[in-house]
Amino acid sequence: MKKHRGKPIVQISDPNIEKYALEATTPESENIKELIASSDNELEYIDMLSGNLVGQLLKMLIRISGAKRVLEIGTFTGYSAIMMAEALPDDGEIITIEMNLRYQELAEKHFKKYDQEQRITLIKGNARQEIPKIPGTFDLVFLDADKLGYSEYYKMCVDKMRSNGILVADNVLWDGTVLRPEDDKSHALDAFNKMVAQDEQVEQVLLPVRDGVNLIRKK
Ligand SMILES: C[S@@+](CC[C@H](N)C(=O)[O-])C[C@H]1O[C@@H](n2cnc3c(N)ncnc32)[C@H](O)[C@@H]1O
Repeated sequence: MKKHRGKPIVQISDPNIEKYALEATTPESENIKELIASSDNELEYIDMLSGNLVGQLLKMLIRISGAKRVLEIGTFTGYSAIMMAEALPDDGEIITIEMNLRYQELAEKHFKKYDQEQRITLIKGNARQEIPKIPGTFDLVFLDADKLGYSEYYKMCVDKMRSNGILVADNVLWDGTVLRPEDDKSHALDAFNKMVAQDEQVEQVLLPVRDGVNLIRKK
């Protein structure tokens, strides 16, 4: 478990189950393996990568829903953007937003190398200012930026989703700390999950996969 999040309350899934699930899941492509190694080499920490269980879930959702236009909030070094690009049809596109300069630089390098079809557009800036400026509607939104902003980003994005569009919010169980929120992030994520549960525009299922994924469909 990650130390930077403070005290974990419960283990969301047994590490042996997680290992077994990963072994039984379609493996990452060679490009993705290289991207992970390159990120690790440059930064020496890659715990912000969403990982293969979430990555393959995103790919699966894109393929079965036929999503063509995807918005990602929180690029990091480009892992999930490249994963999703691998599942997009030829005329698909991903817009991904990142505000950290170092991560922008690494993501740009990875997109140049692994997104030869140029399906990914990186917006360099703060999602709070950038989301309202993006025109059009999205088939799928992957919400994976700062946890304090989840409710705000959700409200900005839900209006930009088509009917039957999907929003995937990562880390919504936050090492189980949402059970007894003590710090700002666990309070914010608990409030987010409760707000979504009350929102009549959507239906949702909170999956205890990895660090918790809230899978939300706009009606
Ligand atoms: C968990 S990481 C994203 C991981 C990435 N989706 C992946 O799976 O590889 C969160 C990222 O969101 C970025 N971020 C946080 N707040 C942001 C904001 N307000 N606008 C844009 N990016 C933000 C951080 O700099 C960080 O790179």
